[in-house]
Amino acid sequence: MRVVMIGTGYVGLVSGTCFADFGHDVVCVDNNPDKIERLKQGEIPIFEPGLDQLVSQNVAAGRLSFVTDPAEAVGEADVVFIAVGTPTRRGSGYADLQYVYAVAEELAPLLRGYTVVVNKSTVPVGTGDEVEEIIRRNAPDADFDVASNPEFLREGAAIEDFKRPDRVVIGTESPRAEKLLRTLYRPLNLNEVPILATGRRTAELTKYAANAFLAVKIGFINEISDLCDAVGANVQEVARGIGLDKRIGSKFLHPGPGYGGSCFPKDTLALTQTARDAGTPITLVDTVVASNENRKKSMIDRIVRAAGGSVEGKTIAVLGLTFKPNTDDMRDAPSLIIIPGLQELGATIRAYDPEGMEESRQHFSDVDYRGSAYECMEKADLAVIITEWDEFRALDLERVAGLLNDRVLVDLRNIYKRAELEGTGLSYFSIGRPDVTAGK
Ligand code: NAD
Ligand code: UGA
Repeated sequence: MRVVMIGTGYVGLVSGTCFADFGHDVVCVDNNPDKIERLKQGEIPIFEPGLDQLVSQNVAAGRLSFVTDPAEAVGEADVVFIAVGTPTRRGSGYADLQYVYAVAEELAPLLRGYTVVVNKSTVPVGTGDEVEEIIRRNAPDADFDVASNPEFLREGAAIEDFKRPDRVVIGTESPRAEKLLRTLYRPLNLNEVPILATGRRTAELTKYAANAFLAVKIGFINEISDLCDAVGANVQEVARGIGLDKRIGSKFLHPGPGYGGSCFPKDTLALTQTARDAGTPITLVDTVVASNENRKKSMIDRIVRAAGGSVEGKTIAVLGLTFKPNTDDMRDAPSLIIIPGLQELGATIRAYDPEGMEESRQHFSDVDYRGSAYECMEKADLAVIITEWDEFRALDLERVAGLLNDRVLVDLRNIYKRAELEGTGLSYFSIGRPDVTAGK
């Protein structure tokens, strides 16, 4: 099957590459010429584990190529995916659909023969109707259907999520389009992946409902963790205690500095806007959005308390800048709130992240970037783990104690157990669990 993927970002590049790996012929299109040039040279513009190898294998097999001009590929395609960004529109919570609509206009005159145009971008209910309308207006004779096929992959685990998804949702009223998309995903039948065929609007809403529900789960455990702090309980044990109940489930119950990333923050906002416009506000998600914003800011007070009441004049080693491990993505990362907050209070920031420092330099030129976690902590006053990269999970804690002037480690991801800290000489502050004070 011939597939065109318009938008070669996190979703487009991963999905396009995985479709090629399923055996389809895939052309990835992006209007960023630098990105396409780098891909043609074999360079992967994002950090995503395993992606470089999968791209090079499929390019070598002649199933995957990259172009800037959709005219080179759309006419031949059976399926054209739209996988461009849908960020929050400036000054409002609405999704900015200008990139999606621009692609619809661009591809309309290029369609030849029956083609299914599929929205993989996360888009509000009714966007498929508008895309259909735009194509119809620009190419009245085109033979096409517009479907919705939302993507549920996570950054950092994107290939595994794409190839072994919990489900695939295909939203279309057209049996012909549904059949074609089922054929496209046929390789997943081997693993008996449920393929859910729904109406287009239902598919669009399912994506937002999934992200909002996960955000609510995180918001819930974060607030429970504050209560644990206040009453001397242990949130990790509470999470396990509730997560073992199959109706609740153990995933997405890790407390932390607030959810970030390119999706939960923007998608929760877009969903609540849609709901308000429809006259059925989702107040639960409104509350989680506000709670998550406050949470990121509240991490600053937490660090100040751990530092003994003030960070003025202190040097703080920040470990982890990206919104989660195994990505170089910093969109809406908690570090973007925490670092300037600490700087405003007079702290000097040093930082280390295995993959995020290049991106971070675009945000913070006044941070002192170091080449490793230990280098970052040397003669700093205290250290703060913001992102739970694997390499921060096995630090030599006695060495850390020797490097830090004040011997204070703040762990916003709960990656260490209390017992591991005892006797190291470090004072250790985590989330929703009793602190460890040096010497005790
Ligand atoms: P991204 O910003 O990484 O990539 C979007 C790409 O589209 C960019 O490379 C951009 O240059 C390109 N583009 C924009 N306009 C174009 C045009 N007219 N023609 C060709 N290319 C164009 O975005 P992303 O993270 O891949 O997200 C894409 C969509 O998928 C969003 O709606 C997002 O919500 C959704 N989504 C993202 C993830 C994720 O993990 N990042 C997961 C599921 C769904
Ligand atoms: C999320 C969803 O998990 C994907 O299913 C979805 O496709 C994607 O959004 C999207 O629509 O773009 P992603 O943002 O890549 O994926 O990463 P997650 O692993 O979900 O983490 C999101 C944020 O929540 C991170 O900041 C993470 O640290 C935080 N988180 C996650 C917690 O604080 N606690 C948890 O238990 C889980």
